Amino acid sequence: MAIVLGIESSCDETAAALVRSDRTIVAQRIASQDDAHRPYGGVVPEIAARAHAERLAPMIEAVLADAGMVLGDVDAIAATAGPGLIGGVMVGLVTAKALAMAADKPLIAVNHLEGHALSPRLADATLDYPYLLLLVSGGHCQLLEVLGVGRYRRLATTIDDALGEAFDKTAKILGLGYPGGPAVERLAATGNAKAVPLPRPLLGSAEPHFSFAGLKSAVLRAKQAQVPVQGCVAGSTAQVAAHADADIAAAFQAAALDCVLDRTARAIARTEGMTALVVAGGVAANAAIRAGLEGLAARHGLRFVAPPLHLCTDNAAMIAWAGLERLAQGAFDPLDVVARPRWPLDGQAEPVRGAGVKA
Ligand code: KG4
Ligand code: ZN
Repeated sequence: MAIVLGIESSCDETAAALVRSDRTIVAQRIASQDDAHRPYGGVVPEIAARAHAERLAPMIEAVLADAGMVLGDVDAIAATAGPGLIGGVMVGLVTAKALAMAADKPLIAVNHLEGHALSPRLADATLDYPYLLLLVSGGHCQLLEVLGVGRYRRLATTIDDALGEAFDKTAKILGLGYPGGPAVERLAATGNAKAVPLPRPLLGSAEPHFSFAGLKSAVLRAKQAQVPVQGCVAGSTAQVAAHADADIAAAFQAAALDCVLDRTARAIARTEGMTALVVAGGVAANAAIRAGLEGLAARHGLRFVAPPLHLCTDNAAMIAWAGLERLAQGAFDPLDVVARPRWPLDGQAEPVRGAGVKA
């Protein structure tokens, strides 16, 4: 039975994990940098890279100690090699290279998006290729056919913001701080989605692409339209504003979900022979989005698979698992493999008009 050490450092989570080919997560540790980035309202790349450099080596030692193992016991070392914030990616990849060289173990340079894409297979041994994947994270929003390890066909992407980014910007507009997705979800649960009319960009359009920039702008306008209630007794003004914020959060989440369901339905209509509809990435932790997709899958006679919450947001177990899937194919990387800030899963996919242009 193979065991792989996985390392993740592409954004603001420093993580290390040991995963066995029987899908056991033998040990894992994760350190979030939320406190370091909170004052800036988002991830500051230099702060992230420095924090990874300080934390990663002791964390790997701790994970090995948790498992009662030494580096010589692992079969390979897998690290995220992109896409992501390049300083952090380099910290993780250089660490993996040094360990691979010192312990004479194979190095596996993992695409972070492949980590997310295959994470549902770590949690569910019955999930077979090919499956239709909605990959929704802070930097990506894509619909892909997952045909096998390293084999992806992109059906759709966002032409502006990623879904997680839209959640984070909504959180910022509503003053909910960072990280935004879970805070928006919590507030949305207390609001009335129908109280604030918001647009559903690209709803009904032929291609299954996404767009969230217009929705984000509408959230900003809704927030700016709030007027403090005059002449209230002390304390009640804040209460009125908080209520309106909850309605905006609920309306945003409902609009985003409508877009996700409409676009995913379009993609389902374009695929054949998929074993399941699968969601992965940080936004897959959102209960409303999970429930909506589950219903959509049922309406199309598809099985629905979503990883457990701890495997949705960034973690090293999914990197170790992608490493195991690559190890099984003998797909190793040379020690001079480079870190990549951009690394599409489907290298053949055509650029989409408007993609990368931020509103
Ligand atoms: O996959 P991930 O941890 O990092 C990236 O690779 O980007 O995704 C992070 C994103 C953030 O935008 C965060 O706000 C969002 O996932 N997110 C959520 C929830 N939990 C995390 N969005 C909505 N609802 C959540 N519960
Ligand atoms: Zn991620």
